[in-house]
Amino acid sequence: MNKKRALVTGGNRGIGLAIAHGLVDKGCDVVLGVRDLNSGKSIAHDIKATAVELDVSSRDSIRRAVGELGPVDILVNNAGVLGSGRLLDDPQDFETSMSVMVHGPYLLMHLLTPSMVRNSYGRIVNVSSGWGAFSDGVSGPAAYGVAKAALNALTVASARTLPGNVKVNAMCPGWVRTRMGGSAASRSPEEGADTAIWLAKLEENGPTGGFFRDRKQIDW
Ligand SMILES: NC(=O)c1ccc[n+]([C@@H]2O[C@H](COP(=O)([O-])OP(=O)(O)OC[C@H]3O[C@@H](n4cnc5c(N)ncnc54)[C@H](OP(=O)(O)O)[C@@H]3O)[C@@H](O)[C@H]2O)c1
Repeated sequence: MNKKRALVTGGNRGIGLAIAHGLVDKGCDVVLGVRDLNSGKSIAHDIKATAVELDVSSRDSIRRAVGELGPVDILVNNAGVLGSGRLLDDPQDFETSMSVMVHGPYLLMHLLTPSMVRNSYGRIVNVSSGWGAFSDGVSGPAAYGVAKAALNALTVASARTLPGNVKVNAMCPGWVRTRMGGSAASRSPEEGADTAIWLAKLEENGPTGGFFRDRKQIDW
């Protein structure tokens, strides 16, 4: 099988870096999407990946990065922000959350899926959260839960429009020890990354349009 090319957004630290590292170990040609290209290049070098400058809250940055990269086989929409404001009192937090966790992933999917469809192969992993699940009350703080619920909805709806060989799934990493999750969290970044790596490397008969934690389907 030919080497698959993967783009991991927010690949410079936390769960994104663990996903990127795991995909390198699985033989993929991995590109880290990073906001700070200098430090990103050195982080990428350490794990035998490369880096591209990518701020997912900027349409220009996304278009530039995709232009530089060309086609990819695997897209991991991992970049995320956890705001602190109250939902209806903090429009800026809402804007940023939607921009990083919904509009950015949407535009990347818009730009990168045509070549996946042409090549009859694609894997898209949307790193979401149980806090975005309606079954759990969309319980994330402020706009975070709303944005993850929208990312989940984007996963379901886009899976319907894509052919079965271009798979798009959402996943929840659990509570993970990162800058976002804090040091008290129960899981290592590697444990949090496992399901995303599995979804990024799904076999032809694997699922699409699902929501997973610990490689098991969970409720939306
Ligand atoms: N940790 C948890 O317990 C947990 C639980 C459920 C879901 N998640 C999800 O897992 C994903 C990764 O989270 P994490 O815990 O690894 O968080 P993290 O350590 O805070 O890392 C967040 C990553 O997102 C990047 N990022 C933020 N805004 C960006 C932007 N505008 N453009 C590009 N990159 C941007 C950051 O880049 P910079 O270094 O440039 O800031 C960083 O690489 C997120 O989607 C998060 O919602 C985490």
